[in-house]
Amino acid sequence: MRCTVFGTGYLGATHAACMAELGHEVLGVDIDPGKVAKLSSGEVPFYEPGLADVLRRNLDAGRLQFTTSYADAAAFADLHFLGVGTPQKKGEYGADLRHVHSVVDTLAPLLDRPAVIVGKSTVPVGTAAELGSRARLLAPASDAVEVAWNPEFLREGFAVEDTLRPDRLVLGVDHARPGRAEALIRELYVSLIDDGAVPFLLTDLPTAELVKVSANAFLATKISFINAISEVCEATGADVTALADALGYDARIGRRFLNAGLGFGGGCLPKDIRAFMARAGELGANQALTFLREVDSINMRRRTKMVELATRAVGGSLLGSNIAVLGAAFKPESDDVRDSPALNVAGMLQLHGAVVSVYDPKALDNSRRLFPTLNYATSVAEACENADAVLLATEWEEFVSLRPSDLDPVVRGRSIVDGRNCLDADEWSAAGWVYRGLGRG
Ligand code: UDX
Repeated sequence: MRCTVFGTGYLGATHAACMAELGHEVLGVDIDPGKVAKLSSGEVPFYEPGLADVLRRNLDAGRLQFTTSYADAAAFADLHFLGVGTPQKKGEYGADLRHVHSVVDTLAPLLDRPAVIVGKSTVPVGTAAELGSRARLLAPASDAVEVAWNPEFLREGFAVEDTLRPDRLVLGVDHARPGRAEALIRELYVSLIDDGAVPFLLTDLPTAELVKVSANAFLATKISFINAISEVCEATGADVTALADALGYDARIGRRFLNAGLGFGGGCLPKDIRAFMARAGELGANQALTFLREVDSINMRRRTKMVELATRAVGGSLLGSNIAVLGAAFKPESDDVRDSPALNVAGMLQLHGAVVSVYDPKALDNSRRLFPTLNYATSVAEACENADAVLLATEWEEFVSLRPSDLDPVVRGRSIVDGRNCLDADEWSAAGWVYRGLGRG
């Protein structure tokens, strides 16, 4: 089959490469010629394990190409995926839909034969129907243009695996306008769904849009639930990690996404719960989601708690202290620093007068662009040199496997704050360090 993918960020580039990996002919489209040039030469413009191999294999096989030309894209295929970003609007909670609108407004006038536009981006409920009307209005093919929604659930760091082996595939179609969307999408994903290995769920448009934001809202709530409990643990001396282990054995609860610590960040969970609240308000259902405001607040409180623990670790005042922050990406196996708890904490420490040195194995370039005033080190040892306290903010394996003896020769004070509860507290304490975790007594 042939398809195009508009947008070549985390979502679009992964989808384009993975659809080619399934054997289809794919044209990735982006307005940024720099990204198109990089991808065309086999270079992934961001860090995503395994993606470069899939990209190069399919470029070499001639199944995958990239372009900036919408006209070429309209001529190339009748199935067009929308994979552009929907960031949070500046200064308000709602999603900024300018990129999805811009793709539809530019592509639709070029559609002079029947076509299906399938959205993958996370959008406020109601967007797909609105884009459908707009596309039919602008396209010479008019009513022969369909809009469907196939939300993407991929996690950064596991993007290839999640796309090629998803938990489920959801497709929302406009039941009032039966068309080819279901048939085309079933054909595209046939190798994933034919033996029932991946459940395929057909819904209406608003349900498909809501599945995605509800999933992210649930995950965010699960993390904030355990982080709220960790506040109670701190007040009582209980250990939230042992508690989460015990809770997780209940199959109805499950252990995943119960890791207490510095909380969630990134380009999805924080902005998605905010956009969800904003949209519910517009729909007159704002009371339904007021709990998400609390989910957001609990999450942000963990960041200030980390600053509080760092302050204690250096004896009560951050002014003039040297602090090493290990981690800048919002999670390991990613170079994404959007709404990163690690950088947020580093920035707050600096505001309080600490000299902060940040190290991350992959996210230093992105961090420098976003927070140019922080100091960046090129290794753990360099970041920790003369540190009065070491903060572990992102659980990269390189940090999880650190031993106290690795840091003993370089630090000034043996104090560690474990923002991801991933170190062995007993080991560090036995080695003479003062260990502090979030929610650990
Ligand atoms: C998320 C969803 O998981 C994915 O399905 C959706 O498509 C996009 O949003 P992603 O943002 O890549 O994916 O990261 P995820 O692995 O979900 O982690 C989100 C944040 O939660 C990270 O900052 C992570 O450190 C934090 N987290 C995760 C916790 O604090 N505790 C946990 O137990 C799990």
